[in-house]
Amino acid sequence: MTKRVAILISGGGSNMVALARSMEGAHPAKPVLVLSNDPKAGGLAKAHDMGIATASVDHRPFGKDRAAFEAALDSALQKASPDIVCLAGFMRILTPEFTRQWEGRMLNIHPSLLPKYKGLHTHARALEAGDTEHGCTVHEVTAALDDGPILGQARLTINADDTPDRLAARLLPLEHRLYPAVLRRFAEGDKTPVFI
Ligand code: GAR
Repeated sequence: MTKRVAILISGGGSNMVALARSMEGAHPAKPVLVLSNDPKAGGLAKAHDMGIATASVDHRPFGKDRAAFEAALDSALQKASPDIVCLAGFMRILTPEFTRQWEGRMLNIHPSLLPKYKGLHTHARALEAGDTEHGCTVHEVTAALDDGPILGQARLTINADDTPDRLAARLLPLEHRLYPAVLRRFAEGDKTPVFI
């Protein structure tokens, strides 16, 4: 049966668009919801234009009450009955209580070659460390941040004139290839990592 996919975003949603496009035509999965923690996220309009249901749960009114925010997020998610949840530029840290219930069914893309550079500012940190290569990782989400079994990585060579912005821009097209490749395999029940 075709797997139902919910995609969580916080911003422009270019990875979400890449995932959604990849599911057009013959594919083991289909997008059933794009959900954002920011009602103004640019990706919501893009999803709407692609005919995908959208919803948002603004995190701000919840303040420090993460549990209440996540309860609202979970309720929006459950309504769409997803089999797979893809975090695609979703910039809220999820609690172990939340991730536990989606374990084995939730994926994330992170802009570094994990286990290097968990968290933020990954491009700047790779440059500061004098790395010769950089990349992105798709992994299963577990309780620990940017951890969990690696399902795919794409890498590029760092150039002498790279800046954090330039590196981010060069990496994004690789993210757009990697995430759909991993999702297709994952939806088929295949967790063999994809390397690009
Ligand atoms: C992507 O580069 C993604 O890897 C990164 O945010 C960007 C979202 O872009 N994710 C993280 O940093 C997660 N910690 P997009 O909205 O255009 O897909």
